[in-house]
Amino acid sequence: MSKTRVLTGITTTGTPHLGNYVGAIRPAVAASLSDNVESYYFMADYHALIKCDDPARIARSRLEIAATWLACGLDPERVYFYRQSDIPEIPELTWLLTCVTAKGLMNRSHAYKASVDANAASGEDPDAGITMGLYSYPILMAADILMFNAHRVPVGRDQIQHIEMARDIAARFNHLFGNGRDHFTLPEAAIEESVATLPGLDGRKMSKSYDNTVPLFEGGAKRLKETIARIVTDSRLPGEAKDPDSTALMPIFGAFATPNEIAEFRAALADGLGWGEAKQRVFERIERDIAPMRARYEELIAKPGHIEDILQAGAAKSRRLAAPFLAQLREAVGLRSFVAPAHTTASKVSTGKADKPQFKQYRENDGRFYFKLLDADGRLLLQSEGFESPKLAGQSIAALRSTASLPAAGSGYTLSDGVTAADVEQALAQLAE
Ligand code: TRP
Repeated sequence: MSKTRVLTGITTTGTPHLGNYVGAIRPAVAASLSDNVESYYFMADYHALIKCDDPARIARSRLEIAATWLACGLDPERVYFYRQSDIPEIPELTWLLTCVTAKGLMNRSHAYKASVDANAASGEDPDAGITMGLYSYPILMAADILMFNAHRVPVGRDQIQHIEMARDIAARFNHLFGNGRDHFTLPEAAIEESVATLPGLDGRKMSKSYDNTVPLFEGGAKRLKETIARIVTDSRLPGEAKDPDSTALMPIFGAFATPNEIAEFRAALADGLGWGEAKQRVFERIERDIAPMRARYEELIAKPGHIEDILQAGAAKSRRLAAPFLAQLREAVGLRSFVAPAHTTASKVSTGKADKPQFKQYRENDGRFYFKLLDADGRLLLQSEGFESPKLAGQSIAALRSTASLPAAGSGYTLSDGVTAADVEQALAQLAE
């Protein structure tokens, strides 16, 4: 049975916080351990450029996010872990998709419309400050997903529309260029109902944009403790009964604790546990999970060269899938080699390498039919003269194959520079096997 491909991107603009850990990193690492899935996790650093023009911040965030995922237990041997910007096939695919994407579809993007509305509200030109990057954001995201034909894309609710757009774009491409086969799998958004969004210090969703986050590793245990101390509570004194649901403390604790620990904590609050003491317990519980990961994180961050190596290997592994697939897509839209025969399957053309020698037949602009013989590495051995018809070319190939030897010189073949008759005969013998 083939595995389900699960793919998600992380925009590299910030420093990971507890909400990212509980809502995305932890479930993703857990899911990657299943034998039934093939996981793709990548740093959406091209997307980051859309939101941020501070090079130092982009550079820092990529490193921190890569180190965070590794420290949280992602095994780069098990999954595809890469930076979007290390896969040149992604921007190439973005262009192929851009050419089939209706402008009207992009006009309907929530993110774009929100920017336009904000401009209208402040009396600005509707498109003030809106780049083509922002406008085309969903197409780049579609390329991320379709490049690897992901089945499932775990995302937050705010991203559902983008997945739907990716489906629309994929279906359009399949329809236009499929020619009987679907190039792209239609992806589905996977919204984890069980993974609650974590509230921030003030009780609203934990988010960088509300400035209410608890950092995951940054600042160490000290910073974690100080930040937890800032979680908003009421002014009830120690000894007074507390409503456990009146503060973000409870869900934050709950994201780490067992059901028993949660029940105990609720009871203690109802029993009059002081807020200060309660925060200390929350800190200790989280620290128990986080401390070993933080130690790994600090080791990793101190050796950026090691992370670079991991990501380079991840890019190479991912490109082994992306490059032949993109070649297939280029072929489908008509960006083809002038010499590749029309009947050669796309996948053969795309890899350029066969594990056997092969004959290729093609027609030249002079209207004649030719063939050539390539060795297993794709090196040109022999080139034929032009024939009147494909049939005659085919008969000539058949003759070569059946005798497995090269006829006397002057019989209509040209050997490539440095190729000997023995090379050709060896290839013919390999073909005969
Ligand atoms: N847009 C996503 C976000 O902001 C990040 C992202 C980029 C992504 N490419 C993706 C997520 C592909 C899933 C699949 O959260």
